[in-house]
Amino acid sequence: MPLRPEIDRLAPYRPGGRLAGTEVVNLAANENPWGPSPRVLSAMADISDVGRYPQMQPEELVGRLAALHGLDPECIVLGTGSGHLIKLLAEVLVGPGDRVLVPQPGFSLYRHAVDLMGGIPEGVPVRGDASDADAYAARSEGAAVTFLCRPHNPLGASLDLAALARIAAATGDRGLLAVDEAYIEYAGIPSAFALLRQRLPVAVLRTFSKAYGLAALRLGWLAAPPEVAAAVRKASEPFPINAVAARAALAALEDDAHVASVVARTVEGRAHLGKALESKGFLVHPSDANFLLVDVGDAAGRLHAHLLAQGILVRKADSFGLPQSLRITVGTEEENRRLVAAVEAFI
Ligand SMILES: Cc1ncc(COP(=O)(O)O)c(C=O)c1O
Repeated sequence: MPLRPEIDRLAPYRPGGRLAGTEVVNLAANENPWGPSPRVLSAMADISDVGRYPQMQPEELVGRLAALHGLDPECIVLGTGSGHLIKLLAEVLVGPGDRVLVPQPGFSLYRHAVDLMGGIPEGVPVRGDASDADAYAARSEGAAVTFLCRPHNPLGASLDLAALARIAAATGDRGLLAVDEAYIEYAGIPSAFALLRQRLPVAVLRTFSKAYGLAALRLGWLAAPPEVAAAVRKASEPFPINAVAARAALAALEDDAHVASVVARTVEGRAHLGKALESKGFLVHPSDANFLLVDVGDAAGRLHAHLLAQGILVRKADSFGLPQSLRITVGTEEENRRLVAAVEAFI
């Protein structure tokens, strides 16, 4: 059966992966090892009316997010994870032959979404420092969409709002700057929502999968100029948010203390782990997120295999084009300790 040529060329999404068992340590998918607030689990257990369809865009959740972030509810679209919204953005904005900027290295789904639409992804070489703004601004004119990630996955660095405003200005009115803030809670920096409020052509992608600990429920959201948000809602399949996820998210948003504690423990673990790995002679990229990119050199593959044999899964960064690096999610104190001990044994 003839498939669309875009499908033939498409690289399948490679997830971070997971080890099964009780004694394993999963540090490959940037998940939150403490999971959600206990309030989330009781809210989920309360749901009984599952015989009816949920709302197309659960109103209470949209309203809550709008109030929390000072946004117009019209600007907000919920999706089945922020990955879903990345694809929907490409569906409404990218046509065959359109140029789209994606960070290189970077999260693979941007390229995937653009390829699927027949667009032309153009890698912007990023280094995880202030020079990234120049690299973007030099190319963004005429691009249908410019994808940017802050904090960046896998480098861990974040461009500031002035740099984003510069890139948005270089993009012009006919392109959209899509800022993926999947890890922003760990960074303690102001969101690009500020630029959207100034009516710049900026969309911001957020997720409940990381600091909120709801990865398995698949819930993300987008804040975009009203006309873009309306187009994304129109393109979405019906009922993308199941009732359990919507209820869970409302409960998660009520427990600020839980998220603050997850972030504080992650930030502390990130500092300890970074220092411990540096003391072993590795270059650790400064990170604002819940993971560290670690340059290991030629031993990256061997260290990955050694850790795996000890029941510790980290992410090889070769899929990002960085074969000499590993990306390591910050785990619990005990997980981080086990990781460092296994690295020591390897050395
Ligand atoms: C940069 C980035 N954006 C988006 C996502 C997707 O998150 P989700 O679809 O779970 O909301 C991830 C997942 O790891 C990510 O690393």
